[in-house]
Amino acid sequence: MFKQTRYDSERLYLRILKPRYAQEVLDYYKRNHSFLNEWEPAHPRDFYTLSYHKRKLYNEYNMFKNDLQVRFWIIKKEDNKLIGNVCYSNIVMGNFKSCFLGYKLDKDEINKGYMTEAIERTVEIMFDNFGLHRIEANVVPRNDRSLRVMEKLGFEQEGFSKRYLEINGKWEDHIHFAFYNDRI
Ligand SMILES: CC(C)(COP(=O)(O)OP(=O)(O)OC[C@H]1O[C@@H](n2cnc3c(N)ncnc32)[C@H](O)[C@@H]1OP(=O)(O)O)[C@@H](O)C(=O)NCCC(=O)NCCS
Repeated sequence: MFKQTRYDSERLYLRILKPRYAQEVLDYYKRNHSFLNEWEPAHPRDFYTLSYHKRKLYNEYNMFKNDLQVRFWIIKKEDNKLIGNVCYSNIVMGNFKSCFLGYKLDKDEINKGYMTEAIERTVEIMFDNFGLHRIEANVVPRNDRSLRVMEKLGFEQEGFSKRYLEINGKWEDHIHFAFYNDRI
């Protein structure tokens, strides 16, 4: 399996970050606190601290090394601003070769096609460099922007899962999507 920590697309750097980037990551979450709240699970009490994100980046780097999860941080080439991430989690290989996809951007950068570009490129990386066959994403039905991203990327709608994920303290129904690598 060939993998690296630095990738890019036309307008974006896509990076697996080490703990020394914890301050940039914390700043991203702080300035997007209210924007992301509606779509995120409730966070632990120390979430908005540097030590939390150092620990998290350290743990996630180990997961990356062990092929369990890959979180690509999105950085704009134009001004080096960190504007979000795309995360492929719960990677299971064997005869499954599947994982979950999650994604979030910066409130000041939405509707410029950045997330579509980031997912398009990282799906290709997960298929070609990590050997995945299937990527699953789940979206709350009222999340119109996210549904539009799924549509633009050609994710197939496969079902509807009731009370599927706990989002901001409430068990929310989700629309279930998947995208397949037909080359393997
Ligand atoms: C969902 C999210 C990642 C989208 O990122 P983005 O970079 O704005 O996505 P894109 O620009 O690639 O595409 C957004 C599309 O939604 C469309 N859109 C925006 N507001 C919309 C609305 N109210 N109704 C329908 N479509 C809408 C945009 O016009 C655009 O489509 P277009 O390219 O056809 O014009 C971003 O809004 C975000 O981080 N939201 C909060 C976290 C979140 O919801 N994560 C996903 C959880 S499943």
